Amino acid sequence: MTLAIMQEGRRVTTIEGLGTPESPHAVQSAFVEHDGMQCGFCTPGQVMSAVALISEGHAGSDDEIREWMSGNLCRCAAYPGILAAVRTAAMANADAVAGGPS
Ligand code: FES
Repeated sequence: MTLAIMQEGRRVTTIEGLGTPESPHAVQSAFVEHDGMQCGFCTPGQVMSAVALISEGHAGSDDEIREWMSGNLCRCAAYPGILAAVRTAAMANADAVAGGPS
């Protein structure tokens, strides 16, 4: 997370730029698959943080995922589904980088 003013002049991707209803991002699909949301208020931030931590290589374990997602609060306590979604998306990403599941 960062303040928007600190990113002046830089390209910023928001949830609206991540996927489309017809073609959601893999993390968005994983959140749907694992019920990683209830009211949806926190979901954009959760998804964007998940995309970032996966791309930066911080999804090596459930504890690491929890640590890197810890700045996102969910008043609905959808944490088990969120963790499962991030884990699934991270594993799919690792498979894609490695050339597919073996
Ligand atoms: Fe409601 Fe997270 S799903 S705050």
